[in-house]
Amino acid sequence: MPDSRPPMDRNLALEAVRVTEAAALASSRFMGRGDEEAADQAAMQAMHDALQGLLIDGTVVIGEGQEGEVPMLFAGERVGAGKGPEIDIALDALEGTTITAKGGNHAVAVMAFTGKGGFLAVPDIYMEKIAVGPGLPADVVDLNAPAAENLANLAKAKGEEIEDLLVCILDRPRHEELIAQVRETGARITLISDGDVSGVIATALPDSGIDIYMGSGGAPEGVLAAAALVCAGGQMQGKLIFRGEAEKERARRAGLAAVTDRLHLADLVKGDVMFAATGVTDGAILSGVRRSHGTAVTHSLVMRARSGTIRFLESHHSHLFKADIAPGKR
Ligand code: FBP
Repeated sequence: MPDSRPPMDRNLALEAVRVTEAAALASSRFMGRGDEEAADQAAMQAMHDALQGLLIDGTVVIGEGQEGEVPMLFAGERVGAGKGPEIDIALDALEGTTITAKGGNHAVAVMAFTGKGGFLAVPDIYMEKIAVGPGLPADVVDLNAPAAENLANLAKAKGEEIEDLLVCILDRPRHEELIAQVRETGARITLISDGDVSGVIATALPDSGIDIYMGSGGAPEGVLAAAALVCAGGQMQGKLIFRGEAEKERARRAGLAAVTDRLHLADLVKGDVMFAATGVTDGAILSGVRRSHGTAVTHSLVMRARSGTIRFLESHHSHLFKADIAPGKR
């Protein structure tokens, strides 16, 4: 059924990118410094501060954790100036905490907006995911099908040889069998250490070279990636994974324990979705923050489902935010 909710002010998309820029700038100071917590805290604080400046009546639906577990940006927190449109928010102030601490690739600050009730409010459990970019026949891949079948169908739809496809998979022991199955087909693989939101988005951006994302990762990250694909036009399916009673209980509390089927994009995200991401470290979709002489350059992606516009934004920050200045220089 088509969504009948009124569109959001399109300028909000550009407001969203200010928020992801702030988080990326703040966390980029911790690149390679081995301190995951400091990087994460800096991103969260900066994102929270920037959100409070927006003229929205916002509610965090997909956030940094549950109330009581994290100091801010938890699911259910009200953010924004309180005036303005009612907006639901999905965010990850620093997607790729370990990456940032190690100075690796693909860390981003991400946020998505939609109208009330537009995000599936998943708890922090895992999700099996498969995603491809736009311009392909509906259901060209199927989460329930074997990897070889999906790759054969994708290659055929793209008019490519399987050997030319590039599959993005999180480098985890739990993916050993999947990786073996993909290798068996002859397809190429890029194993990423973290950051599957970027991995999924990359399927929709031809320059990334990535044709398909496969494997399991965080369910909240799955909703964020779905928000991006709704804007960019790709396809994604996800399936919640309940590992043991504790996760089943979390899903039960979220009213999702009975959701064992494949979820399509429209189940994960609805409405006039806006999505913004800013690179923290270099990655397949965005360059990381460049810092020099107290100034910085950020690279962001801003998208809006309603218009289908994809904007790449390079922003030059002539002086870094106060919170972003190294303690010794304050
Ligand atoms: P963080 O930003 O919380 O570090 O998440 C990084 C990430 O790699 C996600 O992109 C991914 O969905 C999830 O962790 C995978 O979880 P796990 O590390 O447990 O395999």
